[in-house]
Amino acid sequence: MEATSIVVISAGLGVPSSSRLLADQLAAAAERRAREAGLEPLVTVYELRDLAVDIANNVVTGYAAPRLAEAIDAVERADAIIAVSPVFSASYSGLFKSFIDVLDPKSLQGKPVLLGATGGSERHSMVVDVAMRPLFAYLRTRIVPTAVFAAPMDWGRDGAEGANGGLSARIERAAAELAAELAPAPAHAGADEGSGAGAHAGSGERSGEGTRRPALATRPAVATRPEDKSFEDILADLTGSR
Ligand SMILES: Cc1cc2nc3c(=O)[nH]c(=O)nc-3n(C[C@H](O)[C@H](O)[C@H](O)COP(=O)(O)O)c2cc1C
Repeated sequence: MEATSIVVISAGLGVPSSSRLLADQLAAAAERRAREAGLEPLVTVYELRDLAVDIANNVVTGYAAPRLAEAIDAVERADAIIAVSPVFSASYSGLFKSFIDVLDPKSLQGKPVLLGATGGSERHSMVVDVAMRPLFAYLRTRIVPTAVFAAPMDWGRDGAEGANGGLSARIERAAAELAAELAPAPAHAGADEGSGAGAHAGSGERSGEGTRRPALATRPAVATRPEDKSFEDILADLTGSR
């Protein structure tokens, strides 16, 4: 089986870097989930800090030095990307954006992407959704629904779960969503519902253990909706004159 490449880009500047810590945890969870889905994931991590001078030179000259060219090539060939930036001045960092700027904007089209960010305060947790998500939407990537933000309160000692709780659950959910994007679709989706009395593929929704509610379109009309009553009836209901 051909390996499935998951390329991680981390734009943290700190030593140690909390963005790198989040990136590593996202990568480990995504790798495990992909393996569980029957894939052979191959994870490669790029610390953009190590490429900062090359990125700046590329922005100015249009030339990518070999190390940067290798990173660009890996990202553009990746089956999936995990992108993590620190929050700087209420957005992704300049280094992160500059790296995105040196990519061919068409090269990421259709790629599954998991977004992550770290900040000094949970007040800027929306950066993943209001800054990173639009950027990757512009690149026409397939962004997984869960984006993961981590603030200092999310971290405990040695990268363990912090006082806020819930970070590992968010990481797991995001990783599972990324793996689902990578895993091949089953040959017969919904095959377990395709035969037998009362099976109507795509016409209902699950409401609990084994129960099925009819889809909205097939539910009987409810006679008590206001639009089904005459004006006189509504007036009578309101005034109690009946
Ligand atoms: C120049 C600069 C600007 C920052 N601006 C913000 C900000 O607007 N909001 C925020 O929550 N944290 C901000 N921070 C804090 C960083 O986002 C936070 O420390 C981050 O986790 C650092 O990631 P790293 O350890 O991977 O470098 C800023 C830090 C720096 C150095």
